[in-house]
Amino acid sequence: MKGIEILGYGYAKAEHRITNDDLEKIVDTSDEWIVARTGISSRYVSENKNTSDLAYEAAIKAIGNAGIDSSEISLIVVATITPDKFTPSTASIIQEKLNLNQPMMAFDINAACSGYVYALEIASKMIDIGETALVIGAETLSKILDYSDRNTCILFGDGAGASIIKKTGTDKSIEFHSRSVPDVNHVLFANGVSQSTPLTNDSKDYGYLEMNGKEVFRFAIKVMQESIESLLNQIDKSIDEIDLIIPHQANIRIISHVARKLKVDIEKFYTNLHEYGNTSAASIAMALACANEEGILREGMKIIIVGFGAGLTYGASYIEL
Ligand code: COA
Repeated sequence: MKGIEILGYGYAKAEHRITNDDLEKIVDTSDEWIVARTGISSRYVSENKNTSDLAYEAAIKAIGNAGIDSSEISLIVVATITPDKFTPSTASIIQEKLNLNQPMMAFDINAACSGYVYALEIASKMIDIGETALVIGAETLSKILDYSDRNTCILFGDGAGASIIKKTGTDKSIEFHSRSVPDVNHVLFANGVSQSTPLTNDSKDYGYLEMNGKEVFRFAIKVMQESIESLLNQIDKSIDEIDLIIPHQANIRIISHVARKLKVDIEKFYTNLHEYGNTSAASIAMALACANEEGILREGMKIIIVGFGAGLTYGASYIEL
């Protein structure tokens, strides 16, 4: 899709850095096991900040980094599986926090850990030349984690990443390839409030995140490779022409497998999962903003972002900076 540019990036982390040693005190695990099986050393969790607070912080930074006035924003899309409320949406809360009183569309999407990839595609296709959108991935996954389940609690963290995109009509482009398949074996889900009990006040169960790690691992490797190859085919480029790949920050072993299958050096993949863990929809948005802050992103760079998650969703986008 021609003429879409990312003008700025921002991210926000939650208040508390939880190390593997901290988790050793609450579940039967060890720093050695977590680092060897996942590459994760720490993650951040929020005590007082909700998803919209982290999203707002990331948005303010992205607006500053883009050098725009927030009044230029005409669309807000937030990807999250842990919104503050069922309604209004996190995007509507952000619109209010930013004092954007002019009417615009502001809404959330749920595509789990592929959320930012989906949201970027949706926003890019919704804006006209001259228009600017705020695209955010934000999570407080600690709300839906069972901290007695060592299978999941070691992996995930809270955080937010935001980008400002603009349709400029220049030659720069972003291309998309996102898909979803049914999770027939129920390998990754969080039930939320269970079946409704109309007209009574019966208590309802609240479901934490549940996962079949091995199945998710296999799915991730398959679809990350497929997404990248399909996208390359679609844009008629080879992997060697790509400068940087920003994958969903789930597990270093997943990323290493994908690098091996694609026959590319792991160095081509940007990772920060050792510090932040898996922040679901925030993961790629945060990684982009961190890479920008570290001075890794350069004008003219050709990058691919690639994600997978519950749904089962997956997808990749090609971005010319
Ligand atoms: N600490 C210590 N031991 C643990 C553990 C933990 N946190 N979690 C599991 N184990 C144990 C298991 O009980 C098992 O012990 P056993 O051999 O005595 O039965 C052993 O370690 C191996 O467990 P297994 O589940 O086979 O490990 P794994 O290599 O598949 O790694 C994951 C587990 C979850 C790290 C890995 O499957 C994974 O990353 N999957 C993808 C998850 C993901 O990306 N989810 C997000 C999707 S967006």
